Amino acid sequence: MASLKKFFAWTVIPLVIFSILNRLFYTWLPSKYVFDKDVLKTLARESIAKHPDGNATAIMLDLAPKIKAEYGDIVTDFNFDDWMFNNAGGAMGSMFILHASISEYLIFFGSAVGTEGHTGTHFADDYFTILTGIQTAAYPNALTPEVYQPGDVHHLPMGHVKQYGASSGMFALELAQGWIPAMLPFGFLDTFSSTLDAYTLGITIYYTGKEMIGNLLRGKF
Ligand SMILES: *[C@@H]1O[C@H](CO)[C@@H](O)[C@H](O)[C@H]1NC(C)=O
Repeated sequence: MASLKKFFAWTVIPLVIFSILNRLFYTWLPSKYVFDKDVLKTLARESIAKHPDGNATAIMLDLAPKIKAEYGDIVTDFNFDDWMFNNAGGAMGSMFILHASISEYLIFFGSAVGTEGHTGTHFADDYFTILTGIQTAAYPNALTPEVYQPGDVHHLPMGHVKQYGASSGMFALELAQGWIPAMLPFGFLDTFSSTLDAYTLGITIYYTGKEMIGNLLRGKF
């Protein structure tokens, strides 16, 4: 009897929850998406074209206000104070949160130093538009990497996993659409198993929570 209860608790309930979330991911959840990956790609390419020297600062200063003009209040005001580190999957980078809600996030992500690691396995589609530098990626059976240059969009479909690398000075505009809360443990757990960087954890939770709650109050799920 006890073992049947345990089986139910650890197998049946998680499977039921997963099935419901999975069904919603393909049906209801996309109706909550506001950002359009193609619009973002077009805006990104305009900003890249304006700055052929590949100055990441100048590109972001040009691009962020255009994104805000397109999508309004749900996009934060860009600045260089509210950046934070992110350690996940063995990779380390910096990010600035332009938007976070239950079904989407939009961030600048990259690394001045360069990094390499595991993409993580996510309950979301991920669109990574390169602004500067080069990103490489590979499935386990690939003996040569996929190479993404400024203006290219690397689409990582829901559930797919790759190894990826970012060149020194690679920065990207990253849009994720799916069950964002399910992605957060990947972004937090390295704090407890490795970095013990409580400050980064604190500001990440602060900005993510502020965005998610603020957007819910605006009616953006
Ligand atoms: C990059 O752009 C920023 C902002 O426009 C500017 O302040 C900086 O001097 C530029 N850097 C280089 C190396 O041109």
